[in-house]
Amino acid sequence: MVARELIDVIRERVNLVELIGQTVRLTQKGSSWMGLCPFHQERSPSFSVVPNKGIYHCFGCGEGGDAFTFLQKTRGLSFIESVKELGDQVGVRVDDREMSPQERQRLRDRASLQEVIEFASKWFRAQLRATEPGRVGLRYLAQRKISDDTIDRWKIGFAPAKWDGLLSALSAEGVPVDQAVEAGLVRRREKGPGAYDLFRGRVILPIEDARGRVVAFGGRSLPELQDERDREAPKYVNSPETPIYKKSNVLFGLSHARSAAQRTGRLLVVEGYFDVISLHQAGFGEAVATCGTALTPEHARMIAPLARQVVALFDADEAGQRAAVKSLELFLDVGIEPRRLEIGDAKDPDEFIVKYGAEAFGQALGLSTPLIELLLRRAADRHGTSPGGLEAVVGELRPYVERLNAASQESVLERMSAVLGPSSRALREAMFRQGRPPPPPAGAPVRFRGDRDLNHLLWIVLHFPEEALAVLAEVEPPLISDRPTVQWALAQLVMGIALPAVLDQLQDDDLKGILRVAASSHPGLYSREQAAPALKEIVSRRLLARIKARLAEVEGALSTCHPGQDRQRYTELLREKQDLQRQLKRPGGTSPQS
Ligand code: UTP
Ligand code: MN
Repeated sequence: MVARELIDVIRERVNLVELIGQTVRLTQKGSSWMGLCPFHQERSPSFSVVPNKGIYHCFGCGEGGDAFTFLQKTRGLSFIESVKELGDQVGVRVDDREMSPQERQRLRDRASLQEVIEFASKWFRAQLRATEPGRVGLRYLAQRKISDDTIDRWKIGFAPAKWDGLLSALSAEGVPVDQAVEAGLVRRREKGPGAYDLFRGRVILPIEDARGRVVAFGGRSLPELQDERDREAPKYVNSPETPIYKKSNVLFGLSHARSAAQRTGRLLVVEGYFDVISLHQAGFGEAVATCGTALTPEHARMIAPLARQVVALFDADEAGQRAAVKSLELFLDVGIEPRRLEIGDAKDPDEFIVKYGAEAFGQALGLSTPLIELLLRRAADRHGTSPGGLEAVVGELRPYVERLNAASQESVLERMSAVLGPSSRALREAMFRQGRPPPPPAGAPVRFRGDRDLNHLLWIVLHFPEEALAVLAEVEPPLISDRPTVQWALAQLVMGIALPAVLDQLQDDDLKGILRVAASSHPGLYSREQAAPALKEIVSRRLLARIKARLAEVEGALSTCHPGQDRQRYTELLREKQDLQRQLKRPGGTSPQS
């Protein structure tokens, strides 16, 4: 076990908002920060980070914890690995001996793989900058209008047209061939002994992970070096997946794009390495690309927290269109309504910028359209506008349209109307007549009156949401009420969503009434200073009630459980009873954390 104090020191030093901010876009709400929960799908933020308490919590799904659990859950680390990782970040050394042999090995393997990649990256750069063969690469880059500054910034390199360039350098450095293979830099010969370089005669583009560490490479072929024999060689050679590189969760350019995305509130998703580089060079630093794969759900999840608006720039060809349609689904899944930009006669954004310049690109960006319109156009082309065709188009778009927000729905329906003929109202009718979800089950819902504590709690939440958040962030929603509508409404209100908006969506007339009363009556029931302590008291009371109820249950079960017959259950119950009694006796009442 790692010493408790060590963990506390690390927890104290870690900047939780910064750490979580690498995966979730957070906005400050008083003493806490809110964002879209990375642990479940949602469209309005219920995920809160409370830095002065060192915790995060989601009101939607109940997920919560501290810096260590966050790393474990989002990066798949073990507890000790998370301690080690954060310790490294804040300058606290965690002894390797604290780890199991497997953990130690895994960590060492990754670290040394990282070092090998880092070495290769430096070597490629030196080849470009300081060798005679590297001039071909420099010429190529110059011809593509890539500046010296960009070359440095993106750590662009060059692999000479040899079978054992990097391989020899790695050997001289003492890197075993096995490890060079594992790093994806060299390959074993199929016949006979020995190995050879994967990247030969190419410009090398390092691929960085979200934290800016080089984890892989893409290599662009060079026309000047291609002879007749390798005409068929692929344009790009990419690193294979390795223990430190998974294509599905790496986006090319992400570590460079974060600040621009934050500044502009926008992210550009393009297809090619050079598109990203060229866009950044032209001042559009919010561009990223996948690394020679289709967009994955992981990518979409990574993109979601970075920017409100995502513009996809896919090729106009059939493959590009299909990729765009596919990505629509992934973006909608994470609550983004992506837009799409077609760039006229240019093959890709890089070509556009080289041809027409940055300013023209900026203007073009203003012309992006909702990505769903591409789906509409394709469906209309395919099915035509006969009555049967119309129905097919409407059916095809429904699953997407129903996931848009009201304003976007309206604008898409208007576009549909322009393309298909019928009025947008008629189209809406047609769309939601088909496959309308079944009506809610008949029968009167259980009446609900609330109680004094709940009324006061709601009053505090409505009048002092920030103070309420600080208290409620640590409370499990079922503790406050078993009624899902209450839990939902509370989450919304604490998040600062206005009451009318909440009432609008709420389908619980009893609760609506209670909320309206709480909002409009008893002004000054509590002052701001009283709010948090009063809320804590209410929460403790509810916890107390719950403990008592559970105690009664346990005692009931004990009275019918025979120790001779079911020894194990008996001791379990007994232990729980003692535990509950201890909680009841605790001085100062009860704490909501337990
Ligand atoms: P493109 O063929 O559109 O190339 O591939 P590009 O990016 O415009 O390349 P340049 O401008 O001619 O240099 C788009 C992306 O698909 C992947 C790469 O990630 C590339 O950036 N790709 C393409 C490969 O992985 N291998 C290939 O052979 C081709
Ligand atoms: Mn290109």
